[in-house]
Amino acid sequence: MKRMKKVFNYVHHHTSCLAVPQDEIEIPQQTTATDSTTTNPHGMDHLEFRRRGKEMIDYIADYLTNIEERRVTPEIEPGYLRPLLPDEAPENGEDWQNIQNDIERVIMPGITHWQHPRFHAYFPAGNSFPSILGEIFSAGLGIVGFSWSSSPACTELEPVMLDWLGRMMSLPDSFISDEQKKIDSQTVSGGGVLLSSASECILVAMLAARTIKIRSQRLENPSLDDGEILSRLVCYTSKLAHSCVEKAGLIAMVKVHQLSVDEHYSLRGKVLDEQIEADKKKGLIPFFVCGTLGTTSCCSFDNFEELGQICQREQLWFHVDGAYAGAALICEEYRYLIKGFEFVNSFNTNPNKWLLMNFDCSCFWVRDKLAVIDAMSVDPVYLRHKHAEKVIDLRHWGIALSRRFRSIKLWFTIRSYGVEGLRHYIREHCRLAKIFADLIRDDKRFDIIGDVLLGLVCFRLKGKNKLTEKLLTSINDSGQLHLTPSMVNEMLIIRFALCAQNASEYDMHLAFQIIQTYADGILFEFEKSSSTTSIRSVSN
Ligand SMILES: Cc1ncc(COP(=O)(O)O)c(C=O)c1O
Repeated sequence: MKRMKKVFNYVHHHTSCLAVPQDEIEIPQQTTATDSTTTNPHGMDHLEFRRRGKEMIDYIADYLTNIEERRVTPEIEPGYLRPLLPDEAPENGEDWQNIQNDIERVIMPGITHWQHPRFHAYFPAGNSFPSILGEIFSAGLGIVGFSWSSSPACTELEPVMLDWLGRMMSLPDSFISDEQKKIDSQTVSGGGVLLSSASECILVAMLAARTIKIRSQRLENPSLDDGEILSRLVCYTSKLAHSCVEKAGLIAMVKVHQLSVDEHYSLRGKVLDEQIEADKKKGLIPFFVCGTLGTTSCCSFDNFEELGQICQREQLWFHVDGAYAGAALICEEYRYLIKGFEFVNSFNTNPNKWLLMNFDCSCFWVRDKLAVIDAMSVDPVYLRHKHAEKVIDLRHWGIALSRRFRSIKLWFTIRSYGVEGLRHYIREHCRLAKIFADLIRDDKRFDIIGDVLLGLVCFRLKGKNKLTEKLLTSINDSGQLHLTPSMVNEMLIIRFALCAQNASEYDMHLAFQIIQTYADGILFEFEKSSSTTSIRSVSN
C-alpha cells in the first residue's frame, strides 16, 4: 500500500493562490532510493552509483596511464560490433557488472586511442583529469541551461570564462564582454559564448553576416526581394580552409569561393580583391570572408591585415577560424599571428583541441553580439522569464535551444593548471614539433612542407605522390603510429600532429625511427621495381 501524508503545511507556506482545499491534498511520501518495494530491483541506486562510479574513475585512470600497452588503432573490420550484441534490447535490467565487463569485450577493440603517445593524426583531442571531472560534474547535475532562469550559474559562468580566455589570448577588448561594461554601461557590444563545434561557430557567423547584408541590400534596393539577394550572396575563404566553411555555405544557401594561397599557403589580400571585383561585375554580392589561423591541411596562416582592410572597405563580415591554433595565443610569442585582428568581426577556437578540455568546448567571440542575436533569436512565450531584460539568454547565440554546462570544464581546467601550466603544455608541443621536423629535415629523402610554427609537422617523400601514399598506408596498417594525409597544391603530404598531453623527445625519436624503417622498405621496393623496368626496357 502506498504511504501518503497530509501536506497542508507545505502547501500553505509555499503557495498563495491554490484553488483546491489544501488540507485535502495528499502526495506520496518520498521513498528512499534503496526502498525495494518501489524501485526497479535492477536499477542503480545511489549506493551502487558511489561504488561503480569510483570503479569507473579507476578504469579511466588505468586506461589513460597504461594506454601505451594498447595498439594505437584497432585491428577490426567494419561491422565488427553488431555480431557481438543481441538484436533486441534487454527486457529486464542487467547487473552492472555484466555491462562493465562488456566494455573490454565490445567497445575497446573498436577504439582508436586518441590519447596514445603514438597518435599523431588530425589535431589533438584535448583531455585532462580536471576537464573529465568537469564533464562528470556537469552530467551529474543534469541541468539544461538555455536561459538564465533555467540555470543561472550556467548562464553566468560562461561569459566570465570567455572573458578569462579572451584575455589569456590577448584578443581585442571589443571581444571581451566585461570591457564593454567598463567603457559604457549602455553598450551591449562584444562577447563570447560556447558552442558545440567550430562548424557551428562559423555557420552562426555566416548567418549573422547574411542577415545584415540582406537587410542593407533591401534598404539600398527596395525592388530586390530576399530570395533574389540570397541568390547573389557570395563569401570567400582559402582553398585550405576547413570543409566546414563550405558546409556552412551549403546550409546558408550562399556561394563560397575557395581562393588560391601563396607559397606559404596563406590567403592574401590581392587574390581576394581580384575575386571580389570579378564577382561584383557579375552582379554578385560579397558579404563574408573566413580567414584561417592554422589551417587543418598544414597549419598555415592567412594574412588577416590584408584581408581585414578589404573587408572593412567592402563592408564584409570578417570571421577567423582558429579552431586549433587559437590556443597558441595564450603564449605571447605567437601573438604576432593575429596581426590585423582589429578588423575581425568574429573568431572561434576549440579549447577541446589544444587546451586540455575534452569535447565539446568551442569558443565563439563576436564584436557585436546583437548582430548574432538578431539573426538567431526566436522568443516563444514558454521560454520567457522575468529577468529577460537584464540578461542575454545564451540560446540566442546558437542553433540548439538546450545547452550543456560546458563552461565548468574551462573553470576547472584553467584553475587547475593555471595559465602558466597551459602555456607550458603549448610550448612543449611546439618545441617537440621542431625536434621532429629537424629529424625529418636531416634525412634528405624527405621534404618538409610549410612552416613549422606550432605543433604540426607536414612532410612527404621526395618524388611522386604514390610513394608518400604508400608510406602512410604502410605505417597506419602497422598500427605502430597513426598519421593522416592532406593535399596541398596537388602534393600529397603526411601530417604529424603533436597530440599526447605528455609527449616527450623519446616519442619524437621513436616516431621518426618507425617512419624511417617504412620509408627504407618502400624506397627499396621502388628502386628494385624501377631497375627491373629499366633492365626490361633495355633488353627489349
Ligand atoms: C581549422 C579547423 N576549423 C574547423 C574544424 C572543424 O572543427 P569542429 O569539428 O569543431 O567543427 C577543424 C577540425 O579539425 C579545424 O582544424
